[in-house]
Amino acid sequence: MKKITIAIDGFSSTGKSTVAKQLAAYLGYVYVDSGAMYRAITLFALKRNLIGNDYLHRDELIKQLHEIQLHFEFNPTTKTAEIHLNGTNVETEIRSMQVSDKVSQIAEIPEVRKKLVELQQHFGKNKGVVMDGRDIGTVVFPDAELKIFMTADAKERALRRYLEFKEQGKDISFESIYENVMQRDHIDTTRADSPLTKAHDAIEIDNTHTNREDQFHILLQLAKDRIAGRVS
Ligand code: DC
Repeated sequence: MKKITIAIDGFSSTGKSTVAKQLAAYLGYVYVDSGAMYRAITLFALKRNLIGNDYLHRDELIKQLHEIQLHFEFNPTTKTAEIHLNGTNVETEIRSMQVSDKVSQIAEIPEVRKKLVELQQHFGKNKGVVMDGRDIGTVVFPDAELKIFMTADAKERALRRYLEFKEQGKDISFESIYENVMQRDHIDTTRADSPLTKAHDAIEIDNTHTNREDQFHILLQLAKDRIAGRVS
């Protein structure tokens, strides 16, 4: 059967990765979480003290980029392709608030984006891939057969993240999460290099009031149509 490329972009905490994983599992496609790659570089920068509360040693980070090796490995227990930074699984570490607070600053650096876009294009070269991020339909795979742009009300997105952290036993205030969501939206949409924008041929889905199950079925139908060569 014909394999396509599915690009899912949108604001943070709109559930992109959940639906991307569901689609990939159903279709037997590879799932690539491009945000995890920006987060892993942020973790690298934090560990080497290249970024902190009031500094970013941007030129030094750029010099050290060639020392960063990233790859994904499928974990059969979590049923997820987990990210490895220089051989170590950092899938959990990259989800901390410390990384979330800094990642947009790292993702603004053109040299970082260039390195990751090349790697992402390599991962998707054989099609049969579902990739989620901010610039997948606009920059990484401008020819993707199916492009989705996901949005949801910012308060609702912060609430989802808050409940996720609570479920993991992490005590983080709703206010700080809301602030982080708003700040990331701002940096992601206003940065000079590859800002978050809806590709002209992307289908916009606002899931403020849609449950995950319904959303999955909407996207699956769109994917099936594209695989069959039907453009709706
Ligand atoms: O999807 P996420 O929240 O894990 O992404 C983390 C950050 O990485 C996000 O604030 C913006 C950045 N990012 C990006 O600039 N381009 C991508 N393709 C994916 C993520």
